[in-house]
Amino acid sequence: MPNFNEAAELGPGNWQGLARHAGVMAKATHEGRLPVRPYRDSDLEAIYDICVRTGDNGGDATGKFENPRLLADIFAAPYVYLEPSLAFVLPDAADRPVGYVLGTANTAGFVRAYREKWLPRLVSRYPAPTPDVPVRDGWMLEAFHRPERMLLTGADDFPAHLHIDILPSHQGGGNGRRLIETFIDAAAIAGASGVHVTVAVANTRAHGFYRRVGFEPLPIASEGPVVNYGRLTEVGEKGAM
Ligand SMILES: CC(C)(COP(=O)(O)OP(=O)(O)OC[C@H]1O[C@@H](n2cnc3c(N)ncnc32)[C@H](O)[C@@H]1OP(=O)(O)O)[C@@H](O)C(=O)NCCC(=O)NCCS
Repeated sequence: MPNFNEAAELGPGNWQGLARHAGVMAKATHEGRLPVRPYRDSDLEAIYDICVRTGDNGGDATGKFENPRLLADIFAAPYVYLEPSLAFVLPDAADRPVGYVLGTANTAGFVRAYREKWLPRLVSRYPAPTPDVPVRDGWMLEAFHRPERMLLTGADDFPAHLHIDILPSHQGGGNGRRLIETFIDAAAIAGASGVHVTVAVANTRAHGFYRRVGFEPLPIASEGPVVNYGRLTEVGEKGAM
């Protein structure tokens, strides 16, 4: 199990610092919409839970993979480990996260950090896939071992990327929009001109959501049945003027 206290000290994402977190959250407070708060180490198990319960093209992936932690070990935990200052949660009344947005302002840097710092921590838990593993597990194991799949040709204006997941009980009512806006602001503060997301074609609901919150399809090729969307941040919009 990764030690995320150590991560909080060592994670390269921490370079942005708490002051920047505070700036983003101050804006949220001003708007009177504070159930979004920065990620804390104590949120980690809730993050794993949310990731698996929304990980089957937006539906519940419980029981779909041999190792129940695999999905989050690819799509959630490395972000809170490597980029804690770009991780935000939506807490319920008991302060337990029921949704999150995680990501990086610099995908190329994240890919390097994943290979150098994240892979070595977990590689013994996830050996490279062999022909006898079920197809879905095999694909995910392949994704785990090859972070370079995240490098998209033609996405230079959108160096940041994110993952957002909310439990079904808390979807709707603007929670997703609030998380997205928080991330976009934080990515802009970190200097990113734009943010991209990669969405499985099968996740039909997510496509409508991203378009509604300002993302546009990017004309770039990608592996698998997915669509890439991009949205400029304030930094990118100023640069485009
Ligand atoms: C996708 C997800 C993050 C969206 O969050 P949400 O809380 O349901 O969305 P919101 O209520 O914030 O919706 C924001 C806006 O998008 C609109 N919207 C949401 N889903 C939509 C859809 N399928 N089609 C069109 N518009 C949609 C809302 O009406 C709202 O519009 P408004 O702000 O103008 O009123 C959430 O449903 C989720 O976590 N799903 C499961 C996991 C998942 O699929 N994650 C994405 C993986 S790529």
